[in-house]
Amino acid sequence: MVNTDILVFPPHLSGCHWSDREAGQKTNRERHEHMKTLQDLLTAEERAAIRAPIQEARTFPRRAFVDQDFYQLEVEHALSESWLAVGFSFDVPSAGDIVVVDAIGFPVILVRNKDGVLRAFHNVCPYDGSEVSIRSQHGVEEIETPYHGLTYDLNGKLVRAGFWDGTQEAKSVDIAALNGDLVSVPCEEQFSTIFLYLGKEPVPLEEQYKPVFDHVKNVDLPRLEVGVDENGAPNTFELSIRSNWKTVYENYAVNVFHESFVHAMYRKSPHSPRVDENGNKTYDEINDPTGFLGLAYDNSIGASFYGESALPPVRNKDGSENRINTIANIYPNWVLTVLGNVVRIALFLPDGPESGTQRVMNMFDKDGATEPGLEPDRKQSLKAGKQARIEDNLICESVQRARHSPAVNSQFYSPFWDSMHYTLTNLILDKLEKSDPK
Ligand SMILES: [Fe+2]
Repeated sequence: MVNTDILVFPPHLSGCHWSDREAGQKTNRERHEHMKTLQDLLTAEERAAIRAPIQEARTFPRRAFVDQDFYQLEVEHALSESWLAVGFSFDVPSAGDIVVVDAIGFPVILVRNKDGVLRAFHNVCPYDGSEVSIRSQHGVEEIETPYHGLTYDLNGKLVRAGFWDGTQEAKSVDIAALNGDLVSVPCEEQFSTIFLYLGKEPVPLEEQYKPVFDHVKNVDLPRLEVGVDENGAPNTFELSIRSNWKTVYENYAVNVFHESFVHAMYRKSPHSPRVDENGNKTYDEINDPTGFLGLAYDNSIGASFYGESALPPVRNKDGSENRINTIANIYPNWVLTVLGNVVRIALFLPDGPESGTQRVMNMFDKDGATEPGLEPDRKQSLKAGKQARIEDNLICESVQRARHSPAVNSQFYSPFWDSMHYTLTNLILDKLEKSDPK
């Protein structure tokens, strides 16, 4: 018996990419059957300017941040051909839970099977072409399609096709011969984050994430748990941002220069900006050409300024306190922030060239993640993180509005501050150039 109770998600899951799609709404992919090529969208001069040494280089031109055709090329070659963060594990907490996702225009369902393993499938029925599930559901035994009632198990296998031959039990039909199983999408869970590989050439997630795994190899990751509020709900929030995904990515951890101007709290800090009296950086750049980009610094910097907290420290495998703060993006849309007593995970899921949804959640040492007495400290940590995001997002939206000015086509770099931004721009161009005809 199929349980068709609809799972009512908390408000943090009510954003555009999670909500059930309105009837007749087309995806980005459906609107762009005749894609333009990179040659159509980027001149040879613009490519050369991106490739020039950083002192003379320019960023992508403004059309790369506002144009639907450019975005669609990115979806095909720069976003789907990478492991993409699409949600958090607590979105699909229990066996039989199904969550409907619009992942950069790909309709997908996330399904927790009876063994607790998360599976992902393209949300399209091989028989009638309708969505397999229109809505997110909770605690189902099987998946019954809404259009003609084909029935799938939680591993995407077609198990029943009632009335296929006119009889209720469809006794004459060879289910296996119908070749009607759901089409799976490579799906992984790491850091309580759900990753999908939507492209044609999947690589192991461990390969793409090796630089970040290496970076945190001393941290005792199994001690980390998602923090909860007074109702037991995850410490998380969601924000819509009217800005291009590259701008959001670059702002979060790649752009160090902005902190002293955008963030009210950091602006007052004696450690702002991140240089010493001789003009040397007080942080180490993380500048891996595969797209692990950000900064790492001793977490004694700023610790006293930001006030005391009773939350236990993030610990290393040897039991010592972790002393390295890290704020880093992992291409294309995931951010890891390791601070003294919180590990913050963020993702940004674009829904077009000029907008998307950012989601953030906080993890703590297991001794502090659910302890009721520490709930005010967890709330304060979440509030501080949200305030920083709101400040960042205001400036990202400002940049996006200014992209529509014809006065400036592309930006130049500060070689001192912007080497990671330069790496990011060239990495994206590398990926887009794979679409060039051979
Ligand atoms: Fe910022």
